Amino acid sequence: MASNKLTESKCWHQLKAHQQDIARLHMRDLFANNPNRFAELSIESDNLLLDYSKNRITNDTMTRLIELAHQCNLEQARDAMFNAKAINTTENRAVLHTALRNLSGSPVMHDGVDVMPEVLQEIEKIRSISTAVRQGEWLGYTGKTITDVVNIGIGGSDLGPAMVTRALKQFQQKGLTTHFVSNVDSTHLLDTLAQLDPERVLFIVASKTFTTQETMTNARVARQWLVDSLSSQDCIKQHFVAVSTNTQAVSEFGIAANNIFTFWDWVGGRYSLWSVVGLPIALAIGIDNFLAFLRGAHKMDLHFKTAPLGQNMPVILGLIGVWYRNFFNASSHAVLPYAQRLDRFAAYLQQLDMESNGKTVDLYGERVDYDTGPIIWGEPGTNGQHAFYQLIHQGTELIPCDFLVAATADKPNNAQHDILLANFLAQTEALMKGQTEQEAREQLSALGVSASAQNELAPHKVFAGNKPTNSIVFKHLDPETLGSLIALYEHKVFTQGVIWNINSFDQWGVELGKQLATAILPELQAEPSLSAHDSSTNGLANWLKANKHTE
Ligand code: F6P
Repeated sequence: MASNKLTESKCWHQLKAHQQDIARLHMRDLFANNPNRFAELSIESDNLLLDYSKNRITNDTMTRLIELAHQCNLEQARDAMFNAKAINTTENRAVLHTALRNLSGSPVMHDGVDVMPEVLQEIEKIRSISTAVRQGEWLGYTGKTITDVVNIGIGGSDLGPAMVTRALKQFQQKGLTTHFVSNVDSTHLLDTLAQLDPERVLFIVASKTFTTQETMTNARVARQWLVDSLSSQDCIKQHFVAVSTNTQAVSEFGIAANNIFTFWDWVGGRYSLWSVVGLPIALAIGIDNFLAFLRGAHKMDLHFKTAPLGQNMPVILGLIGVWYRNFFNASSHAVLPYAQRLDRFAAYLQQLDMESNGKTVDLYGERVDYDTGPIIWGEPGTNGQHAFYQLIHQGTELIPCDFLVAATADKPNNAQHDILLANFLAQTEALMKGQTEQEAREQLSALGVSASAQNELAPHKVFAGNKPTNSIVFKHLDPETLGSLIALYEHKVFTQGVIWNINSFDQWGVELGKQLATAILPELQAEPSLSAHDSSTNGLANWLKANKHTE
């Protein structure tokens, strides 16, 4: 459906009118009037429970949103993805990351060929190297075992594995530390190298294209550091492996053929952690846990494929997101894990969501006349409570939030965990209920505050409430659960892309900056002042050149 047709459709108009009615309702009343609201507006599937009852919705809202999904042919689009149609139209590629976690034994056909034998072969390679390194069978150039793994990659070749290995720290092998270097700011690599013993380090150069400036720069510096430290050119074989679709460039870099792990162009960078890009995860948590991680994602794939839309977690999350983005004008969405080990989850989701759905033209190349992907941000609770929650509670922006928590801490019977859970529950309740002026006055009066002081303070202590939250809860943050959770968000993003009729699988918006950086670099390094750019860019570049210490 062309973009203008979406906003002209009957469904869209009805949702707009419906929003006007809903805007007057308060969730407090919705809960008071329906004791079954939680039961009606929550879904449990395999590892996760989604409670979406604390949203500004009624059953009518959900019926209309699901009609919208039908109108946008969501089910057909979903099937097209699973069936390897080239839904990434601008790059003429299929989108098959779901095949990477297809542990069902069933084939996945792409251009008439079953991709599963190759996928399983790569998993076997991951098994083989991760087992060898973890069991001390993989030896460095000087015959010593590996104690540190350094993943050099950026974007999809960094964020997913970095986030997951942090999240699953409990499952990590003692004596093997994983590091992630992404930034071309040399301190990132140098600070990491400073902690390492060159005889015991394994570098993974992870880059789908093997051309990314940041990754290739860091990889070259790391290679030189190793060669200098071990005084040999021959040591690369024992200390460098690569993960890429560009095997020729990897060979040219000097990495041995046996050390190349490959994947396919139908795996998007931000969807690649399920492939060999997940090698640092397998090294950190072991192959069995890595397989459990894939299994969790596969379970979510099956749920997304088979559950009716009204019972389908990613669909519900996606549609509720559309509801706030397009009908309440909410420009951002916060993700608030009550789990310190998920401290990189929001950063990971930023790429997943914003690189996928930060688009202005639809599948036909026409400019959309509605908003697309929101700004994704967040930090772990309870930290955020003491920083930015004030604005969520009492600011003028409507910020829908996802709250996440595990019932059980990594260390069971941990008394501190109840405090975490209490805060998680309190925040979503407070955001929903708010506090009326009357309640504020009663509170002040109970504290013995004078009537005149009450008059002054009460307006500041009013919370409007009616702030929407989804709660996503699970038993324990284990590999399978995390796999399900990530796949849930992947399919949420997919759902929204279908409603907005955009290509969620390309990322042309990152190209211009890359091109300009390539052009500016030699100008920065040359003697003459810059003059070919706008006055701001010239002025900044010349100031930086003038103030750069070269000693
Ligand atoms: O610049 C954006 C991007 O292309 C991402 O989409 C990708 O995940 C990242 O760069 C890294 O790319 P590569 O894996 O090819 O180095």
